[in-house]
Amino acid sequence: APSDPDLVERARAAKERLGEKVFVLGHHYQRDEVIRFADVTGDSFKLARDAAARPEAEYIVFCGVHFMAESADILTSDRQQVVLPDLAAGCSMADMATAEQVAECWDVLTEAGVAGTTVPVSYMNSSADIKAFTGRHGGTICTSSNARRALEWAFSQGEKVLFLPDQHLGRNTAVRDMGMSLEDCVVYNPHKPNGGLTAEELRAAKMILWRGHCSVHGRFSLDSVNDVRERVPGINVLVHPECRHEVVAAADHVGSTEYIIKTLEAAPAGSKWAIGTELNLVRRLADRFAPEGKEVVFLDRTVCFCSTMNRIDLPHLVWALESLADGRVVNRIQVDPETEKFAKLALERMLALP
Ligand code: 13P
Ligand code: SF4
Repeated sequence: APSDPDLVERARAAKERLGEKVFVLGHHYQRDEVIRFADVTGDSFKLARDAAARPEAEYIVFCGVHFMAESADILTSDRQQVVLPDLAAGCSMADMATAEQVAECWDVLTEAGVAGTTVPVSYMNSSADIKAFTGRHGGTICTSSNARRALEWAFSQGEKVLFLPDQHLGRNTAVRDMGMSLEDCVVYNPHKPNGGLTAEELRAAKMILWRGHCSVHGRFSLDSVNDVRERVPGINVLVHPECRHEVVAAADHVGSTEYIIKTLEAAPAGSKWAIGTELNLVRRLADRFAPEGKEVVFLDRTVCFCSTMNRIDLPHLVWALESLADGRVVNRIQVDPETEKFAKLALERMLALP
């Protein structure tokens, strides 16, 4: 639906009043009505770097989800204030690993005698607490665009990796990109005693995958891939690495949202693409590339938007911007100093990856 012209004008006017004081970041999964006001758009990695590169902005308005705003707060100076236009914009995957559960898991690894040789690698899609745990135990953060480099670094530091919280990104990177076998991976289930694993299994594993997943990408199936290939002969299947392993194994290309966009930019006219990622982005890509003669379709029509990304809508953005323009900071995301210290260590290790 077209956006309310009154709200569009109010967002524009509030941004103009704020001028250089505000910097608006927009993740690729944001709604059209919101992303048009972003000063930069990007995947999780690019946005983390861009947030850190704007020391002159007093306010960072993060159009994305909670863990992204936390990371922006960690990477910016204390003087800068990060605002999330709707506090209910969380991430179900990030919520699948709590600090208590992860501390318990580390005890289980310690009991099994493997904690000393295990390096935690946590996906950006995790709370600041989990990032701090990672930093404290000598680990790094990764995103979907540098997971392989993060794992290579981790295996240069230890013998095993505890990968949090997305089992799919962990498994896909280890098996598809690094040649490990499915047997090298075990899944730690925080809802079972000892994670549902024996000490033997923990000792034999190279990758200990946390049992978390993305509720959006988890819905693409091998059937989605087979069906689209049958419907559209010659189609290229391009999916995000948060998809299940059998989906990734059947796809032609796999990568982060930024990679998906770059791949389509470089694709020849006349090519056809089925994309397995969030719907706001796929729709925008379909509209953008149609005039160039590139056909972009959604991999599975039963999969829908990320409901928490969609929480950031134009009314919330207008409210946040107008409040800031009136000198009121609303919905500030602020990580406590102790958590920030160790989470920053883990994030900086990621930013320093070759
Ligand atoms: P990227 O933008 O890093 O590909 O991440 C996808 C995602 O699920 C963000 O929540
Ligand atoms: Fe979380 Fe998945 Fe939504 Fe990304 S798309 S914010 S991982 S639920």
